[in-house]
Formats: sequence, structure tokens, C-alpha cells
Amino acid sequence: MNKTLTLLTLTASLVAAGNAHAAGVTLTFACDSVGQGFDQCKKGTDAWSAKTGNTVKLLQVPKDTGDRLALYQQQLGAKASDVDVYMVDVVWPGLIGNSLLDLTSAVPKAVLDTHFQPIVKNNTIGGKLIAVPWFTDGGVLYYRSDLLKKYGFAAAPKTWSELQMMAQKIQDGERKTDPKFTGYVFQGKNYEGLTCDALEWVNSYGGGTIVDSTGKVTINNPKAVAAVKMLSSFVGTISPEAVTTYDEEGARNVFQAGSAAFMRNWPYAYSLGNSEKSPVKGKFDVAALPAGDGGSSSATLGGWQLAANKYSKHPKEATDLILYLTGNAEQKRRAVEASYNPTIPALYKDADVLKAVPFFGSLYDVFTGSVARPATATKTKYNAVSLAFSTAVYNSMTKKQTPEVALAAAQASITRAKGRGF
Ligand code: GLC
Repeated sequence: MNKTLTLLTLTASLVAAGNAHAAGVTLTFACDSVGQGFDQCKKGTDAWSAKTGNTVKLLQVPKDTGDRLALYQQQLGAKASDVDVYMVDVVWPGLIGNSLLDLTSAVPKAVLDTHFQPIVKNNTIGGKLIAVPWFTDGGVLYYRSDLLKKYGFAAAPKTWSELQMMAQKIQDGERKTDPKFTGYVFQGKNYEGLTCDALEWVNSYGGGTIVDSTGKVTINNPKAVAAVKMLSSFVGTISPEAVTTYDEEGARNVFQAGSAAFMRNWPYAYSLGNSEKSPVKGKFDVAALPAGDGGSSSATLGGWQLAANKYSKHPKEATDLILYLTGNAEQKRRAVEASYNPTIPALYKDADVLKAVPFFGSLYDVFTGSVARPATATKTKYNAVSLAFSTAVYNSMTKKQTPEVALAAAQASITRAKGRGF
């Protein structure tokens, strides 16, 4: 090696050492796996790696948010340092917040102020900011605009009864040529996704939020029973029996194949449905979910944050990755390329975002007015509460119990969880 080269190499490594992000660190990131989740995480982390010289190892994480939670609780409970950065569901801060790094001093106030403040508040536990908002979610109704037209319907259904009537008519007609065509698909498997869907039904009938903000257990009420009765009657009529096994991707696969008139899903399905090879490209649109009798449209608040493991050996780099991914440019890229809802209100006025995903503009109120699951009120018992609720709805949909019996059982089980503390 000649002298100049040695000097150059030395200078380069000195520069690297003086840099806050010394080259050569490898972070492990438990990111996403639903839809384009993994690929989109990779695009973001590749860009950060190119900028910083660090590397990111992306884990294959379970699709089901409940399975993810169980895995992460196990890792964090053991104080394991293997994963540096976690993608955190909006309902988890109260469950795993204590094991996450306090990012308060790492995120400039000016940056934090650009995000939806209710999400920032949700991610602040005991005065500590334990996660930075990355993308938000709200349940929406996908509908086949071509089929609505074909069957003489001028607009998307405004009520569940209207959806039922329209889905039945379209299903009857389409089955003449496509025997497996179905009216309505949603998340009917017994998991967190069903809690989200069923909260929308119950809330859209004016039946509350399972547990109210003061911690009162409210799920066993006549409006909630009416909602669960109505939606359970869809199973085996306008929805296939198999809907009780569908998660987000299960529903999307049916709708995107062109085999359903309506679908409840999150916004991520929009970009996939309009992708080059999608059979429904350009044939569908998105509207607010229907209202219950005497109620109003309701969307469950979903969404994901980025957090650093308190036990990470690379807190500085982890924090830098989080700031990069949650920043304006990356949120815009993900909105345009993959219809992930930004957590930065200003991006809902961005021309490129609105061109790629027009309903981010027309349904803006849906996303800002969405109903939260009772995670804050039920604290460390949220998971038990959610499972009691989804199990009751599942039992009603599969006709194991009447809606009345099922919701009374959920009320009792959630009240027992409350007795153990929330
Ligand atoms: C979506 C939502 C998340 C929710 C999950 C349920 O990923 O963003 O909040 O828990 O769906 O399946």
C-alpha cells in the first residue's frame, strides 16, 4: 500500500469515527410483513444505509399483530438486545412501552409538532415519548365502481342495510357466470383485526367502544347486540363462511382477484389493488364505511410507530434510523408508492400524494375522526379485553352463541380482567 493511500484510508476512518454514525453498525429491525410491508421497509432502510454506511437486517415478522406482540413481549421481557428497532402497533404503547427507549430528547420538538398530536399523545407514556408515529390507519370500504354501475347503483352504500341489499343483488347477478363471487369480505378471523372491524360495527350503531374512557365496561348493550346480530347475518349470505378465517390479506386476495363486490380493509390495499397486474385495477373506489341504524359511519384507528429497544446496543443509530424513516420525505414516498397514510397532516395536502391516493383528501375526516380501541383505558389488560371481544363476535358469526349470550360473556370476561387491574 503506498503512503498516499494509507493516509487517505486513515483520513476516511477518522472521518467515520468522528461521525455520529460510525460506519459498520448493523441494526436489526422487526418491521412489517403485510402486503408490500417487507419490500417497503427494505426500500426505506436501503436508502438510510446508503446515506449512513450502516446496515439493517430486516426480520421476517409474523403477519398477525397479536403473534407479533407475543413474540416481542417475550424478547423484551427477557431484556434481549437482538432487535434494535421495532414497528409498534398503535395499541401497544401501554403493553410494551416500559421496554422501549425514551426518545423525548432525540426528537426535536419542531419535528414532533408536524405529526398528528393525538398519536404523539398515544405514544407518550408517563411523560416519555417511546415511539415516533410512522403511518396511521383507518378502516375504509372498498367497492367495485364498475359493478355498482352495472347493477344500477349510483353511489357507495351509506348504511349496513344498504350494503346488504346491494351486495346481495350484485352477488346474485355475478354468480350466474362466476359461482364463487361474493358480496362482502372483511377480517373475520378471531384476532386483533376482527376487534377492529367489529368495533366499527358496534360504534356505527352507537354501541360504544367496548370499555369507555373512564374504564367502564360497556360492551353488553342493545345497540352493540343489534350491530353484532346484523353483521353476523352476513356470514353465509353476502359473505362466504370462510370469511371467519380471513385476515387483511385473506380479504384482499379475494377482492383483488375480482371475486367480491365490497371489502373492508385498511388503505394499504388501494395501491396493491391498482398495481399493474391487478384484475381490479381502475375498477374500484374507496368510501367511508356504512353507518348502523340510527348511528353514523365509524372507522377504527390503526397505525404503526417506530421505537427503539431500551436494551439495544446501538441506541444512537437506532434513533437515527427512526428519525429518517418517520421523516417527511420517507412518509411521502411510502404514501405515493404504497398508500400508507402519513402521520404528518401537511402531506394530506401534497399534490403528489393526492394524485396517487385521492381518498387521502376526500376521506381526510375519516382518518382524523377515527375511533380508538380502548387500549389507553385498559392499560396492560388491553390484549385480554380485545381477545374477549373478538371471541364473542367470532362465536356469534360462527353461530356457536347468540349475539346476546356472546356479548354478555364478553362483558363478564372483561369485567374479570378489570378486577385484575385497569
Ligand atoms: C392494521 C392496523 C393495526 C391493527 C391491525 C389489526 O395493521 O394498523 O393498528 O392492530 O391492522 O390486524
